[in-house]
Amino acid sequence: MMNPKSDSTDTADQGKSKFAIAILAAGKGTRLKSRHPKVLHQIAGKTLLGHVVAAASQIVPPEDIFAIIGHEAELVRGALQATGIQFVLQAEQRGTGHALMAAREALQGFTHVLVLSGDVPLIRPETIQRVRDFHITQRAAMTILTAEPADPTGYGRVFRKLKNTEPTDEVDRIVEQKALRDREGEQREINSGIYAFAVGPLYGHIDKLTTDNPAGEFYLTDMAGVLGKSGNAVLALRAEDSNEVLGVNTRIELAELDSRLRAKKARELMEAGTTIFRPETCDIDADVEIGADTVIEPFVQIIGKTKIGSDCRIRSYSVITNCQVGDKVLIRPGCIMEDSIVRDGAQIGPYSHLRPGSDVGEGAHVGNFVETKKTKLGKRSKANHLSYLGDAVIGEGVNIGAGTITCNYDGVNKHETVIEDGVFVGSDSTLVAPVKIGKGAYVGAGSCITDEVPSDALALGRSRQVNKANWAARKREQMKRLKKP
Ligand code: UD1
Ligand code: CA
Repeated sequence: MMNPKSDSTDTADQGKSKFAIAILAAGKGTRLKSRHPKVLHQIAGKTLLGHVVAAASQIVPPEDIFAIIGHEAELVRGALQATGIQFVLQAEQRGTGHALMAAREALQGFTHVLVLSGDVPLIRPETIQRVRDFHITQRAAMTILTAEPADPTGYGRVFRKLKNTEPTDEVDRIVEQKALRDREGEQREINSGIYAFAVGPLYGHIDKLTTDNPAGEFYLTDMAGVLGKSGNAVLALRAEDSNEVLGVNTRIELAELDSRLRAKKARELMEAGTTIFRPETCDIDADVEIGADTVIEPFVQIIGKTKIGSDCRIRSYSVITNCQVGDKVLIRPGCIMEDSIVRDGAQIGPYSHLRPGSDVGEGAHVGNFVETKKTKLGKRSKANHLSYLGDAVIGEGVNIGAGTITCNYDGVNKHETVIEDGVFVGSDSTLVAPVKIGKGAYVGAGSCITDEVPSDALALGRSRQVNKANWAARKREQMKRLKKP
């Protein structure tokens, strides 16, 4: 059925034909019971519409992609602005057919339009390409991507024309779930909501759509019957994998597609050389990158645009969001890391909290119950226990003793602490910013440092120890005498 030369035909055709992609994204998504627009709900860390736009962008340049928006249009526009796609406003949402009426002007100048649904997020670029090639080589006015999922409930059903009782490629009509009659519900072939149209016939006949249906909307699906009756070719193309065209209409479907996508992501990473133990317990977002020979233990979340190098080990219960992690990094259990950089060979945790702007140098250690924020820790420097390091620039080979605190906030402003190379900060020191500790200096344990410490000096910011001989023994005697019988 597919023309084996479709590639060359397609290339030859590109000179004449211009392909747009329209994405239906104006609906409210009533069945999600949400205050937020449906297409901005996320699976695998990316909005539904973001997934569809990413797939579409593999096929045509962003300026030829038109998202049709309406419900909470400005929110949707804002969320997708950076992709460079175009937006068409469907001010009132009167159905999927009405959405394409709203795009009439925008699509003039294109010969074909591929219509995708903002709530069918698993669609792959390869499949969009297949619909496009089929549509062109078959010279169809409308091509409908269909599927046969295990449970067709809720989807529009596709009825093909028969020839000698055998179904052909030609579609007779699409019947929406609500309008199914008699035994039509037994029909397993469903409409994916993904189509290709020749722009001429689409807009030549779109005004024939009516709202004569249970929902009182203009159904894009009715274009199948409308175009067919006027002698245009309306064809069905079955998707190879019905899972790819699953739609999100409810929270339950949202969760199902999220786990499907994450399972797929984990499989891709494993195929590329990452070890993931118990992948079903890990949440790895779609855009995450992980190098080969890195080991991810159970119950780890890797979120957003995080990039992890190779030969790392990420132990259980860590949540890593938008971080850059180098090679050979060890992240022990229970670390929370966000918008931070961890360089090659560093070790984090257990229970470290890297807040935004942390930069942990090569071979550096951040240990138990250490919190960092906007802090650079130089090569091989160590902050192993119970510290808060905020707004600090810490050089190489520095030892930050247990319990060291940068006092970076005076109630109004944040101030910087500078700790130069080779400094030794004794345990339980408080460093009152702005303050600088010069190269190679020592800070005695328990110091409160308020003034600059010169290089190679010893700073003691604490009162001297006084020993009172025999004091304790005398006190105990006194207490014994006072003890009530
Ligand atoms: C639609 C199809 C159905 C198909 C299913 C596949 C119609 C009438 N039915 O049903 O045959 O099986 O998709 O997932 O098309 N939208 C607009 N403007 C509107 C209304 C909707 O942009 O006025 C957008 C929605 O935001 C959504 C998409 O169109 O992204 C589909 O709308 P939805 O209401 O979810 O249609 P379904 O009932 O799922
Ligand atoms: Ca839908």
